[in-house]
Amino acid sequence: MNLLLENELNNVLSDVFEKNGLDKKFSFVKVSDRPDLSDFQCNGALALAKMTHKNPREIAALIAGDLQKINFIDTISVDGPGFINIKLNNEFIASNINKMASDERLGCGEVEDKHKVVLDYGGPNVAKEMHVGHLRSGVIGESIRRIEKFVGNEVTADVHLGDWGTPMGMILAEIIKTDGNLDKVFSYDISQITEFYKRANIRCKEDEAAKETARKITAELQDGNTEYRKAWQHLRNESVKAIKDNYEKLDVNFDLWWGESDAHETCGKIVKIAREKGVSEIDNGAEIIRLEEGNKPKPPVILIKSDGGYTYHTTDIATIKMRVDDLHTDEIVYFTDSRQTLHFEQVFEGVGKLGIAPNVKLKHIVFGTVNGADGKPFKTRDGGVMNLETLIEISKDKVRQSLPKAGEVDGYGEKEIEKLTSQIAVAAIKFQDLKNTIASGYVFELDDFAKFEGKTGPYIQYAIARINSVLRKAKTTGLDLGKVLLQTSEERILALKLAQVHNVVMRAHNEKEPSIIADYTYNLAQIFSTFYNACSIMNAENTELAASRLTLAKLVRDVLTLMLYLLGIEAPEVMLKAENQGE
Ligand code: ARG
Repeated sequence: MNLLLENELNNVLSDVFEKNGLDKKFSFVKVSDRPDLSDFQCNGALALAKMTHKNPREIAALIAGDLQKINFIDTISVDGPGFINIKLNNEFIASNINKMASDERLGCGEVEDKHKVVLDYGGPNVAKEMHVGHLRSGVIGESIRRIEKFVGNEVTADVHLGDWGTPMGMILAEIIKTDGNLDKVFSYDISQITEFYKRANIRCKEDEAAKETARKITAELQDGNTEYRKAWQHLRNESVKAIKDNYEKLDVNFDLWWGESDAHETCGKIVKIAREKGVSEIDNGAEIIRLEEGNKPKPPVILIKSDGGYTYHTTDIATIKMRVDDLHTDEIVYFTDSRQTLHFEQVFEGVGKLGIAPNVKLKHIVFGTVNGADGKPFKTRDGGVMNLETLIEISKDKVRQSLPKAGEVDGYGEKEIEKLTSQIAVAAIKFQDLKNTIASGYVFELDDFAKFEGKTGPYIQYAIARINSVLRKAKTTGLDLGKVLLQTSEERILALKLAQVHNVVMRAHNEKEPSIIADYTYNLAQIFSTFYNACSIMNAENTELAASRLTLAKLVRDVLTLMLYLLGIEAPEVMLKAENQGE
């Protein structure tokens, strides 16, 4: 079901345009910029007039004349140079809202061309601490995963662990340097492993010989050296445990825990295909695919380095082949920051030359960096890289300031308060991220992001909890949900906002832009608040009106809850903050 008012209007307009011999492509309406004048407007007459050298007001008048006859349109006017302003009648809006309220998808439709899509997000690396970049990729990816599923696509989310590059050799070399061999490796936990990695990183920056050893070990590891493989497996297992733990806390989920290493076998096949097709060549001992032609020549794809190891290019190309052959995907979308733009351009172009993913849409979505107040990438107070654990703790500490202590509220002991704190803290972190467009970076704002007011996750959760409280209260007084009637302007404005939900989700889906949903939740919560202050539910003039308003409130609650879900955020039943104030 797709209950969007706009679509019904578009259908009517398209017929009217056709009937008058006008190009239908100009018949679309948009939500009005002047809500005082109209609900929707169509500016098609202006564009048409420009093309046909006719008077735009005359064309608009022609269309308006026919629209006059449509029974769900209340008023129609031609304004300014030829804008068509349309106001719908209240019964029509109300009947749509009633249908929405009884639809389990709240009036949201699905896409027509359902297909399989692989989402590649998170992308943390073995032995390295996850930083805010991995956080952003995970938070955005999780939201896109939920949106894709909701609109009807078949989604596979793959974490694509960085587990096969030179850092693997670096850390093994560092352990051997310290211990003399790899015997103790199996006793090391994640914090010891990351310490080794940090030391290896410093050493390899300064010492060319150490770097060379690391490269050699990496090549041997990839080649199947059993001792290295066993040690590496332990490092990988410990890292995966820690990464899973982190992402679980953030409610970021994956269907697959594949890594670069899983593509190793297929890397061999890629090299074979490249040779058969004659697209690779040897250059200074390395095997490469040149990407020099076209209007934007790029450095080559490196399939095999001169030391014999595969590269980040090779594993990504091989992974695409696996996703195509094994998962039969129609689309693959990657989420990383801009430092990997060239990498993915090279990989996609290489894949094109190899012909291994015909008709598969490959898309790299670049997100901006998370900065601190100083405009530089977000760091801890002591200047270190902000990791996920610390970030969650900071958020929880902030949230605790707004919540009662364990035992202060009936039924809320240590465990319950802790759960609520986490739900709100995660909402604060995720919303602060998702309210920004993906492409823009943002400043991680440490003061207000976890507050219960303003454009924050907790504010939306709080709006939902307040409605829950109204619904509970209604139950105790025996007030039931009823048919929606629109009598006041606040009710009407709220209903029109609710009716946008399908469009909001589809736009977020098409543009892969969760911020569209985040904006909508905030606007809807604010519009609800205005309605709620102006239109009493419990003290409405009569029961029909009270029941109608209760339905509107419940629908807002359900829409907000669904929108938060699509952002990857939970909506707790209560927020333990004077929720029932105002009635
Ligand atoms: N591991 C990479 C990093 O930390 C991100 C992986 C992105 N996904 C991919 N298929 N290359 O930068």
